[in-house]
Amino acid sequence: MTDRRPIVGGNWKMNTDRDTADRLARDVAVACADAVADRDIIVFPPFPYLEAVRNALGSSGVRLGAQDVYHEANGAYTGEVSVAMLLDLDVSHVIIGHSERRHVIGESDNLINAKVRAALDGGLEVVLCVGETLEQREAGETEAVTLAQVRAGLDGIDPNDLKRLILAYEPVWAIGTGRTATADDAQTVHAAIRAELSRRYDNTSADTIRIQYGGSVKPDNAGELFARPDIDGGLIGGASLNADHFASIVSAAGVAAGDRV
Ligand code: PGA
Repeated sequence: MTDRRPIVGGNWKMNTDRDTADRLARDVAVACADAVADRDIIVFPPFPYLEAVRNALGSSGVRLGAQDVYHEANGAYTGEVSVAMLLDLDVSHVIIGHSERRHVIGESDNLINAKVRAALDGGLEVVLCVGETLEQREAGETEAVTLAQVRAGLDGIDPNDLKRLILAYEPVWAIGTGRTATADDAQTVHAAIRAELSRRYDNTSADTIRIQYGGSVKPDNAGELFARPDIDGGLIGGASLNADHFASIVSAAGVAAGDRV
């Protein structure tokens, strides 16, 4: 039993162009018009389209997120984007530590922690992504790796800032591959993350923090995943590029929340 508000994010990654981003945002705004009352719904477009998507979302209640941020305030950091720049565009949420940033771009736990601190200090809500590779899963290291990422990402974070923190468990082998963790496997890791938060902070914080699942979530598997007690919604990649599919995943989050209480 929980009163955690379900949260579903659409991570558009490096997809869309100006026109399709505008259209997708408008379609999501219409399709999720009722859901915003009791779920947090966020879209994360590429940086160049943040402003267009903000305008397309209008006053729909669907929130605007960014896929990354840099921790320095300003200066000679070619190609990077600051917290203040995102706030200027009415961005409310930012993804930090996505596996594609960890494993394709090569971001370290230290850099990710610096970004989490800067984003929380600046007033953004942070979606911190964690999760193991296939090799690590097969070696039996799933929880060790994932919990180490949680500890490193949250190093030095003030407990008062946890209200603006969301975790996303995304096993790397399930992202964009069509392979989803079983609902039981995901639940086991989510529960382990929550236990770690309880050890590190306190029971109330651990019970309050929302943990999303990500990795090939689709309309037909969302309901089963979201029904698990420690899975509070999803971070959706591929399926978020289709407004109908995304809306049906959002709807599954609402049904699951209704069933839980
Ligand atoms: P996917 O991506 O839904 O395409 O697997 C999820 C993510 O990377 O956030």
